[in-house]
Amino acid sequence: MNTTELAYAKLNLTLDVLGDLPGGYHELCSVMQSTTLADRLEISAAEGCGVIDVTTDKRYLPTGENNLAGRAARQFLTKAGISGMDIKIHIEKRIPVGAGLGGGSSDAAAVLRGLNRLFSPPLDGAQLEELGAAVGSDVPFCIQGGTVIARGRGEIMTPIAAMPDCGLLLCKPGFSVSTAELFGLVDQRKIFSRPDTDGLIKAIETGSVGGVAHRLYNVFEEVIVRGRDEVALIKEMMFDCGALGASMSGTGPTVFGIFHTRQQAEKAADALGAHWRDCFPCRPADRIIL
Ligand code: C5P
Repeated sequence: MNTTELAYAKLNLTLDVLGDLPGGYHELCSVMQSTTLADRLEISAAEGCGVIDVTTDKRYLPTGENNLAGRAARQFLTKAGISGMDIKIHIEKRIPVGAGLGGGSSDAAAVLRGLNRLFSPPLDGAQLEELGAAVGSDVPFCIQGGTVIARGRGEIMTPIAAMPDCGLLLCKPGFSVSTAELFGLVDQRKIFSRPDTDGLIKAIETGSVGGVAHRLYNVFEEVIVRGRDEVALIKEMMFDCGALGASMSGTGPTVFGIFHTRQQAEKAADALGAHWRDCFPCRPADRIIL
């Protein structure tokens, strides 16, 4: 049995940190959006002795159950009560790593979707989200993606109207960040500006690309120290190339810009690509129907 799954990168159109949660986590409010930039996973299952084998096309990434995708597979087999099956997963990475784009979380979510398709009876969406939450805070969102308000640790989700179609450009600076480190820094800083989450939701509901673009805001842009200038420079170049709005995604450092059209985003990718290797023109992705 085998299947192919795409794992879509996520963006935080807004990201606010509201307070502390038990277990060292933070209470978030974020409008999240999946994009068409995606990793590709080949997932197969065969009779065996319960080995989970995960490989990727990037030598530096963890394999087996040290990879979030392998951990997700183990969670699935345990929950579904499946034994005596070997699972093989190969991941072709397109989403940059340590980038604020939820790549590892999305791979884990894709494994849950893929295994759920291969084995019956399938688990329902709520069960998959619960498994995902045990693997990582962004995994529940990545199971269906689309346009969602995420609260709590990120696992309490309300789907909203789809973001209006537009061009997106994702550009990762030449460094990566540790999510845990950035959340640690947020505790030490006073946050002065907050996103207008309600305004952004209204702009989405009225289909206003400009209204969405003008309300992008991520509190981690105030927090990030190393590479702050590079993030600001990428944003500036995005605006010079015609972006209607630009912001950092997640705990960074990837910056994304919103353009009226995919063609404009591609043109901007040519300009920024002269300076940064990781430039990805794409568009918003729809919610996945399970
Ligand atoms: O849930 P996940 O393993 O992806 O989170 C990675 C780290 O990010 C956590 O260990 C925690 O330090 C931080 N985090 C947080 N609050 C959240 C999500 C993540 O503090 N809501």
